[in-house]
This record gives sequence, structure tokens and C-alpha cells, in this order.
Amino acid sequence: MKTTESVQKLAAWMAFFAMTCMVAYATDPTQLQDFCVAINHLDDAPVFVNGLFCKNPANTSANDFLFQGLNVPRNTKNKLGSNVTIVSAANLPGLNTLGISMARVDFAPYGLNPLHIHPHATEILTVVKGTLFAGFVSSNQDGNRLFSKVLYPGDVFVFPQGLIHFELNIGKTRAVARVTLSSQNPGVITVANATFGSKPPISVDVLTKAFQVNKKIIKIIQSHFS
Ligand SMILES: *[C@@H]1O[C@H](CO)[C@@H](O)[C@H](O)[C@H]1NC(C)=O
Ligand SMILES: *[C@@H]1O[C@H](CO)[C@@H](O)[C@H](O)[C@H]1NC(C)=O
Ligand SMILES: *[C@@H]1O[C@H](CO)[C@@H](O)[C@H](O)[C@H]1NC(C)=O
Repeated sequence: MKTTESVQKLAAWMAFFAMTCMVAYATDPTQLQDFCVAINHLDDAPVFVNGLFCKNPANTSANDFLFQGLNVPRNTKNKLGSNVTIVSAANLPGLNTLGISMARVDFAPYGLNPLHIHPHATEILTVVKGTLFAGFVSSNQDGNRLFSKVLYPGDVFVFPQGLIHFELNIGKTRAVARVTLSSQNPGVITVANATFGSKPPISVDVLTKAFQVNKKIIKIIQSHFS
């Protein structure tokens, strides 16, 4: 009896560890080489790899691992008053297969980096300059709770992978943030644009039900994203 019980306990623990391992492996692939500097594949190539092709390692140099100009303030004269400069494997080829990327985010006074999702990455943000109100919303299972903070220079905030998040400059001056992302290709879905500016548009019948408002309101919102 005792033995059966302990065997059952052991089996339960093994199942638990197996599940933990499955979660731990759900990330960008582990390196099988020092690096795999990306080269542009043909846009009309018949097959794609999960990532980018590698240059011949013998033909790589320090420049493949360099991106310059992230010190330069970006133009924030747009509707939202923000500008994201992402440094990913697309413009820093040495990042290919390394599972990491970063960005500079510039904000005009009261500028907004609107509600968005990175489908492939967790994000960690540091305020360099200014004051940001930042937050994310947990999933339905967690009750869609809002986790938000007012952030000052030197403050660090984390947005877990796949969750809707935003940053608003609540100061009277420009603000700057640096973010790091746990994928070479974090991806981005801007919630408003994806919902109201898809091509072709999502049917008004879907959107009126989903948002519990009338057609007129949906048409007005869609007109801002078409
Ligand atoms: C090395 O790089 C040069 C310049 O980008 C290119 O012309 C050449 O074909 C490359 N050689 C190999 C072996 O990849
Ligand atoms: C971001 O800034 C760059 C350089 O200042 C500019 O070329 C680009 O158009 C800006 N993007 C947006 C969305 O305003
Ligand atoms: C989303 O829509 C806004 C408003 O039309 C526009 O200013 C912005 O450039 C769009 N963003 C993207 C990523 O297309």
C-alpha cells in the first residue's frame, strides 16, 4: 500500500516536471552555433525557414552585429504622438536566432504608444526620460485585470508575452523609453488598427455585436483606420 502511494506520488511529480519543461521550451530556439547572421532570402522563394537564412560564418564581420543611431530622437508628429524604432533581426542581422531584440520609443508630450500585443515576446521597459503611465491587461482567465503604474526615469516595468499593453506620456515634456524583447522578431498587433482597419474590413455586423454599439459608431471608428 505504502509503495503504491509513493509510486503514485512520484508519477504525479514527474508529470508536473514534464509540464514545466514543456513551458520552458516554448521559446525562441536554442543556439546550435555561435551565431547565424541573417541574409535576405528571395521574397518569392518557394520555401521559408522559421527565421532567416544564415550567412557563411567565414564571411561575417563586426558590422553584422552593429546598429547605430538609437541616440537620435525620432519624429513624433503623428496622430498618436509616439514613434517606435525597433532593432530586430530585420535591421540587425547578427540578432538572427538569438531570441532577443530592442526598441527606442519616443513620446511627444501626452503622446501614446497605443494598445498593442507582441505575439512572440515578453517586453521589459526602462524609462530614460519623462513620465509614463504604462499598463497591461491580464487574460480572461485572470479576470482581465489592469496592472498599471506611473513610471519615472530609471523605473523598469514588464509586459508579459501576448498581453495587451500601452504607454502614455503624462508629462509636459518629451519622454523616451528603451525596451528589450525576448524574441528576435517580437511581432506587433496594434489592437485598434487590427480590429477597425483590417483589409478587407471586419463586417460591421461582427463589430456592432462585439462592441455592443450601433453601426454609426463602428463606421466612425473604422473611418479613422482605413
Ligand atoms: C561574402 O560577402 C561578399 C560581400 O557581401 C559577397 O560578395 C560574397 O559573395 C560573400 N561570400 C560568401 C562565401 O558568402
Ligand atoms: C519616426 O521617426 C522617423 C525619423 O525621425 C521618421 O522617419 C518616421 O516617419 C517616424 N514614424 C512615425 C510613425 O511617425
Ligand atoms: C494605426 O492607425 C493610426 C490611426 O489611423 C495610424 O496613425 C497609425 O499609423 C496606424 N498604425 C499602424 C502600425 O499601422
